[in-house]
Amino acid sequence: MQTHTPAKLIPTDFTPVPSLAWLRDLEVAAVDETDPTLHAVGFVFADQGDAPDELGLDRAALRRAGFTGKAGDTLLLPQPSGPALVAVGAGPVAGLSPALLRDVAAAFSRATSSFERVGLRLMDVGDVDPVEAAQAVAEGLVLARYRYRALRAEHKEPVLTRAELSIAGAAAEALRAGVARASATVRAAAVGRDLANTPPGHLTAQNLGEVAVDLGAAYGFEVQVSDRQELIELGCGGLLGVNAGSAEEPRMIRLTYAGGSDRKLALVGKGIMYDSGGISLKPSDPMHLLMKMDMGGAAAILGAFTALQQLGVSTTVSAWLMCTDNMPSGSAYKLGDVLTARGGKTVEVKNTDAEGRLAIMDGLVLATEWEPDAIIDVATLTGAALMALGTLTAALFSNDAGLAERVEAASAETNEQLWQLPLERSYRKQLDSDIADISNLGGPYAGATTAALFLDEFVAEVPWAHIDIAGTMQSATDDSWRSAGATGYGARLLTRLAESF
Ligand code: BES
Ligand code: MN
Ligand code: ZN
Repeated sequence: MQTHTPAKLIPTDFTPVPSLAWLRDLEVAAVDETDPTLHAVGFVFADQGDAPDELGLDRAALRRAGFTGKAGDTLLLPQPSGPALVAVGAGPVAGLSPALLRDVAAAFSRATSSFERVGLRLMDVGDVDPVEAAQAVAEGLVLARYRYRALRAEHKEPVLTRAELSIAGAAAEALRAGVARASATVRAAAVGRDLANTPPGHLTAQNLGEVAVDLGAAYGFEVQVSDRQELIELGCGGLLGVNAGSAEEPRMIRLTYAGGSDRKLALVGKGIMYDSGGISLKPSDPMHLLMKMDMGGAAAILGAFTALQQLGVSTTVSAWLMCTDNMPSGSAYKLGDVLTARGGKTVEVKNTDAEGRLAIMDGLVLATEWEPDAIIDVATLTGAALMALGTLTAALFSNDAGLAERVEAASAETNEQLWQLPLERSYRKQLDSDIADISNLGGPYAGATTAALFLDEFVAEVPWAHIDIAGTMQSATDDSWRSAGATGYGARLLTRLAESF
């Protein structure tokens, strides 16, 4: 393999995770009374009963101005002096949930995106636990103001520097606890977003290894980075095969968080730094700039690790991030090549664009050798998952009903939606190869399922769940707490799962 450093002019002060500085400087405070020097203060209230007196307008007047009171509806009322006031609908009290409050807070955050200092007062959260309510509101407020700011000096909107929140009738202690939890979960998602938004030339597999080492030192987890030579020694023929055409070295990034309990959770992430398709080259299409996000699974896992210690997670969590780009060149792997996975299984390559499953198969085998209680892999694996479920819902596959239920429960709490699809084993024969144990390409239908069936071959009997985030890794537009670009999908879900495992 030819190794050279391609000429890249990257600013010397380039920071791969710019959100860390933003979040460090951002004050999110639980308060009783919002500060009168804020730029905007929102009032969240249900669609029945009186509007809050502070707004100075009754429900009829608000309605005449177009405010319906539905969840997420907002109406900004400029004031002659002091903060702008914002009516924020919560819909019916009976419909309140942390997920809805997160959406409502995000709607307020977007309505006030031209302000640096904002406050949000919730008049009634019904039966929602105040800690959960405060966490969800803080997440919605902050995640909706996320922007990838590493590469331009000027932005249309100012940076959010202070957010205050209060919930009528809730103990200050509970609010503070919720806000503290949100500071960890928001960081998890923002780290995932920053890394996935970073252009491929600014973040190679080697760079990601360096970022992981820094994050591990800052947030309390161990990081071990394996280079090409070590991957050869480990027998990771899948990751090495995908890497063969690249001018950049591959990296396997092993993360370990020692939670103290003997419950062991293994995570495996697809870390394709850029997916050109390789010799099965993708046609030129602006859509393919999204392939810089083909490491969204690895990014979400790394993000989640930055939250574990702060949340006091007791589970022991270990991750294998399988990182390389997928490039065509004279040294690239070819259609017809046979790769040998760690553990000895042989794989005939029928399409070099089905590279994700090859990169992570070695990680799955290494994860099983660790003898965990469960393995979860997160991967931007198939266009078929995007076609089937769109950008709001990830595809879940599992060989274990109990584990699938746990993943679904975590997903419901973080509102990172997913839907379980059947692991239809009768389709396994589509992966048969004439010359190897298995091929990397299924038939024309059920592409997300045949990809999952491929992975299933490498997890032995360990309870395993596979989350295909090809659809949910990015959002074309600002939508609730998802800001346009990489969504960080999975970071909060995995954090929650590790916590409840
Ligand atoms: N990274 C892509 C999947 C993807 C597509 C992610 C769209 C995000 C948005 C993956 O490596 C890929 O190319 N999959 C192929 C598999 C096929 C060749 C069997 C696909 O889905 O077309
Ligand atoms: Mn591909
Ligand atoms: Zn890919």
